[in-house]
Amino acid sequence: MKDILQDIKNRASILNKTIVLPEAEDKRVVEAAVKTVKENVSKVVLLGKESDILANNPGVDLTGVTVIDPATYEKTGEYAQLLFDLRKGKINKKTGLDEYPTVEDAKNYILKDFTMYGALMLKLGDVDGMVSGACHSTANTLRPGLQVIKTAPGEKMVSAYFLMIAPPCGNKYCEDGCYIYADSGLVQNPTSEELAYIALSSAKSAKVIAGLEPRIAFISHSTKGSAKHPDVTKVVDAVNFFKELAPEYNADGELQFDAAIVPEVAKSKAPNSTVAGHANVMIFPDLDTGNSNYKNTERLGGFQAVGPLCQGLAKPINDLSRGCGVEDIVAAVAITALQTQN
Ligand SMILES: CC(C)(COP(=O)(O)OP(=O)(O)OC[C@H]1O[C@@H](n2cnc3c(N)ncnc32)[C@H](O)[C@@H]1OP(=O)(O)O)[C@@H](O)C(=O)NCCC(=O)NCCS
Repeated sequence: MKDILQDIKNRASILNKTIVLPEAEDKRVVEAAVKTVKENVSKVVLLGKESDILANNPGVDLTGVTVIDPATYEKTGEYAQLLFDLRKGKINKKTGLDEYPTVEDAKNYILKDFTMYGALMLKLGDVDGMVSGACHSTANTLRPGLQVIKTAPGEKMVSAYFLMIAPPCGNKYCEDGCYIYADSGLVQNPTSEELAYIALSSAKSAKVIAGLEPRIAFISHSTKGSAKHPDVTKVVDAVNFFKELAPEYNADGELQFDAAIVPEVAKSKAPNSTVAGHANVMIFPDLDTGNSNYKNTERLGGFQAVGPLCQGLAKPINDLSRGCGVEDIVAAVAITALQTQN
């Protein structure tokens, strides 16, 4: 079985992209920055004060890592102006007031929120991607991207998937060595149409990132009409919508999880399906199901969960789990570099 992550790192390395890591206050991020550069996965920009980084990480060798201190960087004023212009007229949900009444307010904000700072660097093309979230929540990590980078042309929305990599000993159901699970990190309760668009983004991610030929299963608690409920109807409608939207892909549903991956179950529950029993892209009906399933597969199935990875953004930003290790960060950087090709 090929080493999927090593393959991703090798492909990223050829692209030689620059990825910003805004959380230099986190030791894992600093270690990952050094490792990324040493392994030639990509170029890296760390945001923070170099003397603080050196003091917090005794003996660290930052050779090859670019450190930018937002407090003194010459382009900070330009980023503040950009944020002010992009968010003009937007109201802060908590205060009911303008998000950034003046450019000075925007500047003060980005000097506190380096994830937003990194998103603005990305917007201006000073970096090619961003990875954050080692010490910030998913919502706080993704909001800057949603607000300033926005959805890519041709995409309906941003969603999040996990690349689930089978354990080294393999898994008898996982024919390709990995699965794509979506949406497991961002969209709380998608409509049928939104589910179809999540499936389309996931199919592209499966190809570009994992090199898969997508076989897409729309997951439900019902297989081919075995249960009747509005939740089932939502998934059936999503499948129909997807088949019109992207007839070139092999997709089916509604399928229970076992019918999606176990050939014997598929034979009895969905005998005419070309996906059932062999699915490699799982589209879950809502975030509760998607998130619980990835954690279940990770903890009980021994799979490695890489993500949440964003799809559908105009430029790549990826979130980290707060329990991430150094290798997880390097992997997310490599995937972010590959997403610049989407
Ligand atoms: C990401 C998230 C924070 C956005 O929610 P929010 O901050 O309340 O954001 P809003 O709904 O006000 O949206 C903020 C902006 O993002 C945009 N946006 C939100 N979700 C979007 C999506 N899925 N695709 C594209 N744009 C989106 C909105 O249109 C809005 O744009 P605007 O401010 O320019 O008008 C929210 O979807 C969330 O919390 N998701 C769950 C994350 C999570 O906890 N995951 C589990 C752990 S992995």
